[in-house]
Amino acid sequence: MRARLAADFERFGRELPRDFPDHVRDAYRIDLTARYLGREIPHPIGKGSGQLSLNPDQLEADRAAGLGFVVLKTLVAEEASGARSMEAWAIHETRMRVERLRSAGGREGWTVTWKGRGWDRSLADYLALVRTAADLARARDGLWVVPSVKYHLPRLDEPFREAEYAHTTAELARAWGAGELPLEKDFSPTLAGDPLADERRRILRWVAEVPDRIRRAAPGPVRVALKLMNALFDDAFQVEMLEAAAGADGLTVFNRLFDPARGVAYGGWDLSERNLRVLDLARARGWRGRGLSGTGNVSSGRMVLEYARRGCESVQLHTFFQLPLGEYPAERGSRTQRALHALVFHPTEGLVAGMLDLEAGGVLERRGGLLRFLDLARSAGAAAS
Ligand SMILES: Cc1cc2nc3c(=O)[nH]c(=O)nc-3n(C[C@H](O)[C@H](O)[C@H](O)COP(=O)(O)O)c2cc1C
Repeated sequence: MRARLAADFERFGRELPRDFPDHVRDAYRIDLTARYLGREIPHPIGKGSGQLSLNPDQLEADRAAGLGFVVLKTLVAEEASGARSMEAWAIHETRMRVERLRSAGGREGWTVTWKGRGWDRSLADYLALVRTAADLARARDGLWVVPSVKYHLPRLDEPFREAEYAHTTAELARAWGAGELPLEKDFSPTLAGDPLADERRRILRWVAEVPDRIRRAAPGPVRVALKLMNALFDDAFQVEMLEAAAGADGLTVFNRLFDPARGVAYGGWDLSERNLRVLDLARARGWRGRGLSGTGNVSSGRMVLEYARRGCESVQLHTFFQLPLGEYPAERGSRTQRALHALVFHPTEGLVAGMLDLEAGGVLERRGGLLRFLDLARSAGAAAS
């Protein structure tokens, strides 16, 4: 199998077949089936919300590459009048810098430095993208694409602005069309650094109440994931946030770290170390989350497995899709294809190699002859979403 993997790595570096999960099942008897926001997907690797999911061309390239799923850029919610309480998040900024970053523990990684925030075009433009997303989500050979929103978040003595929740959710539901509307609600790193998020009780109230606010505002069924932030408090508070989020259908854990001195969000190894440590702490305290999706410094198949072993049924990447081309071992293909090739087929660091190692180490067992990716989250005690 190892020889076969080395040969596949070589071959697929020239061209990755879109149906590579079928090949992995046939060649290695490994079932990569994963799940995001209630839907089964052929493998766990998806794209996190951001600058790489802003237009139909990016979605088509991801569909063609065989990506697992995509979360659209975060829309800043508005009322029927166009008023936006989170207006400050709708700023325009195009310049991104992909940089090497050394973590506190001395590990070299990558981060993207960017001063922008949410969707900076009109609601009408976003709704057009959601219609494309819904078509892709329904198509055979399509792609599971999910919208993302940032809604009003009140101070403790204030009510939620229902009008903003109602208008934006109804418009999204209309654009999505029939069936359950999937939605990820973003609590971003810049929010973590904002005075709005300087009080613990306030954040816990948001996390506890927002899923129902969205459900009540929606004209039909809706499935809500919360993308939780890395607050500027300690690990124990992150666990409190996870516990408070029990009403969500899924949790994306956790958005980037925020550096208050520089006023920017960052990732790299500091981010994955914190995220994995908090998930360990939460599970040690008996917490069992539903529908977990990991995000933060996923730059190898082994890191996908680190998140999976802590209950994540999928992962969402941004930075690894933005590396200089010379950083990917593949010779050809879109960035998405090159990233998938490295993440899945790298002979030592890839997902297939990592799952074979987990089998050899007695951590993962075959069922019905297959090693199953979702068994990792299941044995971590994650409740099914
Ligand atoms: C330039 C940039 C823009 C982003 N914009 C958003 C956003 O609008 N909404 C959101 O939920 N996350 C956003 N993210 C966070 C990513 O989706 C992802 O969760 C995070 O970067 C951690 O993954 P990574 O280490 O693979 O980059 C953004 C990240 C980057 C680098």
